[in-house]
Amino acid sequence: MKNIIEALNWRYATKKFDSTKKIETEILETILETLRLSPSSYGMQPWKFILVNNLDLRSKIKEAAYGQPQVTDASHLIILTIKKDIDAKLVSDYMSFVAEEKNIDVSNLDNFKGMINGSFQNRSMEDLKNWATHQLYLAAGTLLTACATLEVDACPMEGFDKLKVNEILNLANLGLESRLIIPVGYRSDEDKSATDKKLRFSKENVLIEIN
Ligand SMILES: Cc1cc2nc3c(=O)[nH]c(=O)nc-3n(C[C@H](O)[C@H](O)[C@H](O)COP(=O)(O)O)c2cc1C
Repeated sequence: MKNIIEALNWRYATKKFDSTKKIETEILETILETLRLSPSSYGMQPWKFILVNNLDLRSKIKEAAYGQPQVTDASHLIILTIKKDIDAKLVSDYMSFVAEEKNIDVSNLDNFKGMINGSFQNRSMEDLKNWATHQLYLAAGTLLTACATLEVDACPMEGFDKLKVNEILNLANLGLESRLIIPVGYRSDEDKSATDKKLRFSKENVLIEIN
C-alpha cells in the first residue's frame, strides 16, 4: 500500500480504462464501504450510492455522459445520488434511526430534531439540495482517496446530463437525483494522461498561514 502523498500523486482522473481488468470483490466492497462511512452534516447521510452492473444501462449512461468511454470501459460504475426531498419527513425518519441505533426513546432527540428543522426552515428546496450535494462530494473525496491508496483508478465525472441519467435509472421513483458518476477500475497502458504532469498550484499559493 502506498503512503498517502505517493497515492495522491499516483492517482489521476483516468481517461482510458483497461476493460479487461476487473476489481476483486473484496476490494470493491472496501471501496463501497468508504462511501458508507463518509461523514455528513448532522450525520444525516442524505445520499444513496448506485452500483450499475447492467451493460445496457451503462451504454445509455455513456451516451448521457457525452460518450465518455470510462463509463463503459471501467471495471465498475458508481453513481452518487442525493435524496431529492430534504424535508421534515427525512428529518423524522433520521431521528427514528438514531433512536433505534442508540436504543433510546425518540423524544430524547426533540432538541436535535428542532435544531435540524430550524436550520432547514425558510430554505428553498434548491438550496437544501445544494446542502445535500455538499455532503455527497465529501463521500466522493473519501472514495477517491481510498481508491488511490488501494491502487484502484477512478475518474470523478460531472460531465453528464443529470436529467437523462435520472431518467435512465428511474431515480425519481427511488426519491433520488444523480450528481456524480465515478467509474472505477484499472488504467489502460495506452492512457496517455497517466503520465501528464500533475497541475497543482504551489503550497505558497494555496496555503495561508495566520499566526
Ligand atoms: C467534481 C469533478 C468533476 C469532474 N468531471 C470530469 C468529467 O466529466 N470527465 C473527466 O474526464 N474528468 C472529470 N474530472 C476530472 C478533473 O478534470 C481532474 O480531476 C482535474 O483536472 C485534476 O487532475 P487529476 O485528477 O488527474 O489530478 C472531474 C473532477 C471533479 C473533481
